[in-house]
Amino acid sequence: MNLNTPSASRTTMTDMVLPSETNPLHNLFGGELLARMDRAASIAARRHSRRIVVTASVNHVAFNRAVPVGSVVTVEAAVSRAFKTSMEVYIDVWMEDRFSGEKSKANEAIYTFVAVDDTGKPTEVPELSPETDLEKERFAGALRRKQLSLVLAGKMKPNEATELKALFMGS
Ligand SMILES: CC(C)(COP(=O)(O)OP(=O)(O)OC[C@H]1O[C@@H](n2cnc3c(N)ncnc32)[C@H](O)[C@@H]1OP(=O)(O)O)[C@@H](O)C(=O)NCCC(=O)NCCS
Repeated sequence: MNLNTPSASRTTMTDMVLPSETNPLHNLFGGELLARMDRAASIAARRHSRRIVVTASVNHVAFNRAVPVGSVVTVEAAVSRAFKTSMEVYIDVWMEDRFSGEKSKANEAIYTFVAVDDTGKPTEVPELSPETDLEKERFAGALRRKQLSLVLAGKMKPNEATELKALFMGS
């Protein structure tokens, strides 16, 4: 088995939505979902790197659909690309209808984790080889998402973000 594939890192967590985790409309709190996604994604990043990992940034979260109390929620996280010390993790959230049992996509998010040593210093991670078309598509887009995240965090100058520039300039 090739250990450096997204599926080797895939982490699936299923849990239900309790009343204490909901807002006044009886839907899941955004913060609770963020925490569930962070837990699943950190396990995926750890499975890939076999290191201690820390959340460096939450690059994208789309709360597309409300998740009602009593729903069964599945959070599925997998590393979509590994860079030098950081990893992008893609998270898909599925909701199971209480009555029909039908599963549908509720939300998605993209987190960045950094592998660190015992002193908290960033340390290198293995490369990742995407296999499926979806994994290849996510892998290909990860560099421009990393550059956008770094530009927004003030850690990269916009004119150094080559992938982003190519996206906007069409080159
Ligand atoms: C994440 C952390 C280790 C990064 O440290 P740093 O000094 O910025 O380290 P570097 O500049 O060497 O960056 C390390 C990697 O993170 C990436 N990175 C840093 N900030 C990033 C951001 N905002 N978005 C995307 N990637 C980022 C860098 O590009 C680099 O990636 P690469 O080595 O794969 O190219 C450090 O900021 C940290 O420990 N933060 C606290 C983490 C934490 O406690 N998380 C839980 C929050 S509640």
